[in-house]
Amino acid sequence: MSDPCVQVRVPATSANLGPGFDSLGLALDLWNTAEFTLTGEGLNITIQGEGAARLPTGGANHAYSAFRRLLSNIGQPEPAGLRIHFQNAIPAGSGLGSSATAYLMGLLAANALHGSPLSKDQLLELSAEMEGHADNVAPALLGGLCAVSHDDDGWIVRRYAIPTLQAALVLPEVNLPTHTARKALPPHYTREDAVFNLSRTALVVDALRTGDLALLGRAMQDRLHQPYRLKLIPGAEAAMQAARQAGAAAVALSGAGPSLIAFCESGAEACAEAMHAAFTDRHIPARRFLLQTTNQGASVS
Ligand code: HSE
Repeated sequence: MSDPCVQVRVPATSANLGPGFDSLGLALDLWNTAEFTLTGEGLNITIQGEGAARLPTGGANHAYSAFRRLLSNIGQPEPAGLRIHFQNAIPAGSGLGSSATAYLMGLLAANALHGSPLSKDQLLELSAEMEGHADNVAPALLGGLCAVSHDDDGWIVRRYAIPTLQAALVLPEVNLPTHTARKALPPHYTREDAVFNLSRTALVVDALRTGDLALLGRAMQDRLHQPYRLKLIPGAEAAMQAARQAGAAAVALSGAGPSLIAFCESGAEACAEAMHAAFTDRHIPARRFLLQTTNQGASVS
């Protein structure tokens, strides 16, 4: 008999979407996949593609931690042996939710290999707890656009299917871990800034649900995190301006950065090129991505 094995596939995500700090995220058509096999003994983790040189392949691997976490949650012993092979297309540490994909892959695989005892809601709670926020894990699990909030009973998530939108992304070679990008934020905000973001967040949801890029362009503005984080990414403000000049309808920092995401009616390639040039003109190497939003979320087979 062959060893029990499952394959999981989880999309990239872009969180915040301008004003929706820690509250909004959407799924992008770029995928990390992994095969999990229960084996006789030992842990064997191999990584191909993005992050192969830098992501841990031992006990500190996020997907492996999540796999163990699920087993402990359902009261099952750790497996005698586990092999995980990743095929990653999502750049690590980029603001595209790669750590959220890793936690979800581990949880989904462990759940599927043990008869699926946990519901999607429970998997979402666990993954959000491991990740620290739900704005990446929710759209990675469910696809589409997700609005997330938290209260004493756990995470409140609403998922919306959205029209397919074209997105140009640029990822500068700048090291900006999420915890550093969070430390850059002030402890308090003015009422004006709070209202500025509140009023636009609802409009961003409406613009994305209806594909109204003109509205998105007016609403995708932020005063809670981008002004502080863009300063940590040399060339980012110029790249956002270049994207708008090249015809982007709206542009935002993707998650905590350092990547930027621009939504385009047309000409996404020119927009990606313009953002790229803003970084390379400053001698900062950068990569371009042309992606689409997706309503598909994570899957297990
Ligand atoms: N919303 C988080 C932040 C990143 O901006 O710090 C994604 O979880």
